[in-house]
Amino acid sequence: MEQRPFEIEHIDPLGQGVSKKSKITFIEKTLPGEIGQATIYKEAKGVSFGFIKNADDIELESKDRVDPECPHYWECPGCQYLHTTYENEILFKKQSLERHLLPLTNSLPESIEATLHFAIRRLQYRNRVQLHYNLPKKKLGLKNTKLNEIIEIPDCKILDSKTENELQSLYNGKKWLELIKKSFPSSASKKGHIEIYNQDKDSPSIAVNKPYSHLGFSQVFEEMNLKLKKFLTEKAESLLENSNKNIILDLFGGNGNLTRQLRTPVIVIDSCQINDHSLSPYQTFHKKNLYQKNILQDLVALTKNKKVEGMIIDPPRAGIKGLEKWAEYFKPNFLFFISCNPSVLKRDLAPIIKIGYKLNEIHLFDLFPSTQHYETVVLLTKPNGLPK
Ligand SMILES: C[S@@+](CC[C@H](N)C(=O)[O-])C[C@H]1O[C@@H](n2cnc3c(N)ncnc32)[C@H](O)[C@@H]1O
Repeated sequence: MEQRPFEIEHIDPLGQGVSKKSKITFIEKTLPGEIGQATIYKEAKGVSFGFIKNADDIELESKDRVDPECPHYWECPGCQYLHTTYENEILFKKQSLERHLLPLTNSLPESIEATLHFAIRRLQYRNRVQLHYNLPKKKLGLKNTKLNEIIEIPDCKILDSKTENELQSLYNGKKWLELIKKSFPSSASKKGHIEIYNQDKDSPSIAVNKPYSHLGFSQVFEEMNLKLKKFLTEKAESLLENSNKNIILDLFGGNGNLTRQLRTPVIVIDSCQINDHSLSPYQTFHKKNLYQKNILQDLVALTKNKKVEGMIIDPPRAGIKGLEKWAEYFKPNFLFFISCNPSVLKRDLAPIIKIGYKLNEIHLFDLFPSTQHYETVVLLTKPNGLPK
C-alpha cells in the first residue's frame, strides 16, 4: 500500500482527519495540525482514505494527542477517539452534529446549538459485543476491512466487566472453537459471528450465528440509557396537556424502553414482538411494520377517538422517509426524533420542518463514548398556525 504525506486541517463528521496536502485524504485517528505519513488503502471519487499504523507515523504531534488506553486501539475498528481526551472527543461530536444539521438550522430565525449530555464514563460500559470468527485462521474478533483481517480484542476496554470476563474466557485456550463445534456438531460454517450480551442476569448470554440483537433491541450503555429516558420523560411531561383523550405514539419503540416512565397512555409500535411484562400499565404494544406502504391507515385505526398529542420516533440507522405525512395527519403538539445517524436525521427532518414544525432543541447524548457514534434527540413543536 502506498505511503503518502499528510497535514490534517480538520476532523470530518466521521471523526477522520482531513488532509488536502496533495489530494483530499481522510485519515482516521489523527488530529488537526498533525503532520506525518499515512498508508493509503482506498481511492474513490477523487478522494483517498488512509490510516496510520501507530504514533510513529506522526512527525508533528498535536498537543491534544494522548496515549490510547487500549492495547488494540491502532488496529481495532471499534473505537475512533482514544488518541485524544474525552473533552476533545465530545467537541468533535458536537461539531460533527452541528455541521450535519447546518442546512436545517441555518434557515432558523435564531441560532440553535446542540446541548451536550456527556457520558458518565468513557470505558467499561458496553453490555453487548458481536465478534466475527474465521475457523481456518482460528481468529475471533472485530473485522478490520482495511487490512482484511480479524483483530483479536481480549483486552477491549469499552466492555463492561461481565461482558469482558465472558470475552476473556472465550479467548482463554481458544474455548470459542469448542463453542462453535458444540453449536454445529455436524459442520460449522467457516465464517460467522458470536454475540455476548450482558442482560444483567447471573451471566451474559452467548449466541452463535444469530441475527444481531436477536433478543430485541436494547441500548448498550445502560446508565446513559437511563439518562436519556429521564430526559425524555421530563420533557414530554412538561409539554403534555393532560386530557384523558390524549395519547403518545412511541414508534420504533422496541420494548417500550423510552416511554416506560411516562404516566400517560402510550401506544408502543415495533416490528419485533416483545414480552408484555416489559411494559408499564400505561403502555400498550402493537407489532407492525412501520415501513409498510399503508401504515398510516393502521396508525389511524389504532388511535381512533384519541388525540395523538406527542410522537417519539426512534428508527434504525436507515431512518424513516415520509414522516411528514404522519405529522400532517395527527398534528401532534410535539415530536421527538431520536437518531444515531445524523446524515439520515437531516434528510428525515427537512420535510417536517417544511410543513411548519419548529425545530426547538437539539441534544447530543453520548451513548457510545470512545467511538464516532452518538445519539441525537431533536424536539419539534407544532406551530400555532396548524389547526388542532
Ligand atoms: C434504534 S431501535 C429503538 C428501540 C427503542 N426505541 C429503544 O429505545 O429501545 C430501532 C427499533 O426499530 C425496530 N424496527 C426495525 N425495523 C422496523 C420496522 N420495519 N417496523 C417497526 N419497527 C422496526 C427495531 O426492532 C428496533 O426496536
